[in-house]
Amino acid sequence: MMSRIKSVSAIEILDSRGRPTLLANCELSDGKLGRASLPSGASTGSAEALELRDRDPARYAGLGCLKAAENVSQHINRAIAGRDFASQEALDRCLIDLDGTDNKSRLGANAILSVSMAFARAQAAQRGVELYQHFADIAGTVPRLPQPMINLFSGGVHAGGQVAIQDVQVVVPGAVTMSETLGVVSDVFRSAATRLLDKYEMRLLTADEGGLAPPFASSQEMFLEAVRAIEAAGYSPNDDLALTVDVAASHFFEDGAYHLDGERLDSAGMADRIDEWRRDFPIVSVEDGLDETDWDGWRALFERLRGRVMVLGDDLLCTNPARVRRAITEKAADSLLLKVNQIATLSEAAEALRLARAAGWHVVLSARSGETEDDWLADLAVGWAGDYIKVGSITQSERLAKYNRLLELEHYARLTF
Ligand code: PGA
Ligand code: ZN
Repeated sequence: MMSRIKSVSAIEILDSRGRPTLLANCELSDGKLGRASLPSGASTGSAEALELRDRDPARYAGLGCLKAAENVSQHINRAIAGRDFASQEALDRCLIDLDGTDNKSRLGANAILSVSMAFARAQAAQRGVELYQHFADIAGTVPRLPQPMINLFSGGVHAGGQVAIQDVQVVVPGAVTMSETLGVVSDVFRSAATRLLDKYEMRLLTADEGGLAPPFASSQEMFLEAVRAIEAAGYSPNDDLALTVDVAASHFFEDGAYHLDGERLDSAGMADRIDEWRRDFPIVSVEDGLDETDWDGWRALFERLRGRVMVLGDDLLCTNPARVRRAITEKAADSLLLKVNQIATLSEAAEALRLARAAGWHVVLSARSGETEDDWLADLAVGWAGDYIKVGSITQSERLAKYNRLLELEHYARLTF
């Protein structure tokens, strides 16, 4: 289908951390409209495409997005208004060429993705199909509901850093529906909050993704409390609920060592520690267990954990097809954490997805710690048939926008896991 672009524009809006991000609009010449707002990470991988910030200390501590907005409304608009695009791929190719850099630093990954995503919405409107179906058609996938990985506890850069590891999440493998899953997780979340209120004698504040962030004494305690919360809510760890962890090890890797729980571990020591956690707790997925540059370590870790837990790459892979290819060849992981804004076009993210699936990998569609009320990620996770979706906790509307959209799709589109 040919889509002629009438205009694109973007403005600066705020994300869930109160930091600037972009809201873009794309209007086609037949009057169909697409709009999209973008998330932003805190725990960013160094191989991510560059999010353009104004660096003007007088506004939002330098984090303003006025230049990126102007790049959309002026530069990109001039280049694509009046042109026909036969596909998402054709539009994305044009944006990549227009930018001309490897990491999208000229126009900005945020400027580019905002147009890529708003165009997808406009095309879905033009075709008269639901957004998830349009995403599925872009990637050649068959829609289905992903299992949610729901944030229970946070540390690292998502909280005060009291404990180094970043997120402990729960999954409900036996649940048959999305609504059952959310109900079970809500029970566990409440039980965790009550237990920790007793233990720390304070009402717990929530972290960036809405998880609880008490001053755990150690990583060990973080996992143990998750298990206790599951039991206290009347469920069985392993059978009813399992844990997943985002170690986000790049953020405590310094001078060649992992600084964890007061210890200094080398790569092998870190792998031993992860293997202990896996044996002691019902963990089914380990994300970023090692630093993003520690490829030898990743190979050894994967050798050790393969078949026991998902070995999930976030900072390691950055949704970058070249890095996914390398991890497949080097046998460094078996699961892709897919965040579109790490690579900044839908087409390149779809390529990372295709590579991962062709290698038999698991795929987790993920939000960022800074989010907006836009719910496109739910449609993307459904359309691209993710095994899991990682959106954060069940306590803040920028997270719930996605869960609620999944509930809507479960109910009205009759999608199942
Ligand atoms: P970010 O982290 O969105 O803050 O980068 C999320 C994650 O590490 O998975
Ligand atoms: Zn991560």
